[in-house]
Amino acid sequence: MARTQIIGTGSYAPEKVLTNADLEKIVDTTDEWITARTGIRKRRVAAPGEATSDMAVQAARRALEMAGVQPEELGLIVVGTVTPDMPMPSCAAVVQAKLGAKNAFAFDVSAACSGSLYALNVADQFIRTGQVKRALVIGAEMLSRAVNWEDRNTCVLFGDAAGAMVLAPTEDAERGLLSTHLYTDGSFADILCIPGGGTSKPTCEAVLKEKLHTLHMNGREVFKFAVRALADSTHTALKSNGLHVRDVDHVISHQANIRILEAVLQRLELPVEKCWLNLHEYGNTSSASLPMTLDEANRAGRLKQGDVVAMMAIGAGMTWGSAVMRW
Ligand SMILES: CC(C)(COP(=O)(O)OP(=O)(O)OC[C@H]1O[C@@H](n2cnc3c(N)ncnc32)[C@H](O)[C@@H]1OP(=O)(O)O)[C@@H](O)C(=O)NCCC(=O)NCCS
Repeated sequence: MARTQIIGTGSYAPEKVLTNADLEKIVDTTDEWITARTGIRKRRVAAPGEATSDMAVQAARRALEMAGVQPEELGLIVVGTVTPDMPMPSCAAVVQAKLGAKNAFAFDVSAACSGSLYALNVADQFIRTGQVKRALVIGAEMLSRAVNWEDRNTCVLFGDAAGAMVLAPTEDAERGLLSTHLYTDGSFADILCIPGGGTSKPTCEAVLKEKLHTLHMNGREVFKFAVRALADSTHTALKSNGLHVRDVDHVISHQANIRILEAVLQRLELPVEKCWLNLHEYGNTSSASLPMTLDEANRAGRLKQGDVVAMMAIGAGMTWGSAVMRW
């Protein structure tokens, strides 16, 4: 059976930069606190009128151009997002129309910050079985529209962005996606969630007043969960491929907090230098984070053919997972 290879990457972040100093004017916080506790210095915020699909399309066009693939050649588009343009139809359907990818079927995957890893795994199945020859996987998130800008616990953490990957089959036994391991523990749903605005608490005056339509988080619990889950799933991924941590050339990870990443890498005994970091510039961009960092590392010429790339992500659900590929 053919393996899946990533033949193009792309990313996009809105123009508007929001610095920690800007946030000092919005909530009771300081640049020192945010930098020391998270590593984040800046984030991007979408322009009024800009939608998640707009960011997704920009990232997708760049990935398609790198891959030398026309939109009509795509058989599948999967978008990992929890901030689609609207509840229905999917963000992927809007992206399909905007790209003119008329031969692709398209749908969203809802796994929060693990969205692009989940989407990669879903698309991988279609590529390996031969049902699809070219797939587009996108992580796109506009959490600036979902956070409570009066809540200093959350509004300082997130940024808007999109990342994209074009997938194709390869018969080269030395390259491609070797494995993906995905996990969910729904019993931890309440430590990171947007409780209102769905069917359980439909949008109404009370929901809006209590800000239940915005993101709620128990930061300490998420932190503890993330360190354990990311380290464990990466261990499992390497073991299942007969690889040792010393075989890993690059870590491409969802970037939530520098302290989470450092703790995970320490547990794995992997040097931080192997991990491409961009959260100081963009904050936590949720599902966009993984494909965006992959794109940055790729365009910087860091990824050489045959290099072992370990990917990991975690998000609300809780959802998490890891993937290993030979570039
Ligand atoms: C959110 C996070 C940065 C907070 O850091 P922390 O070291 O755990 O800080 P604590 O929660 O212990 O809060 C310490 C104090 O800082 C305060 N604080 C919170 N946000 C603040 C801010 N932006 N500026 C200043 N003070 C802040 C808290 O109110 C608390 O004050 P108190 O002790 O008087 O109650 C950290 O828990 C984290 O990153 N968690 C993971 C979040 C995440 O990654 N979510 C997405 C996953 S995909």
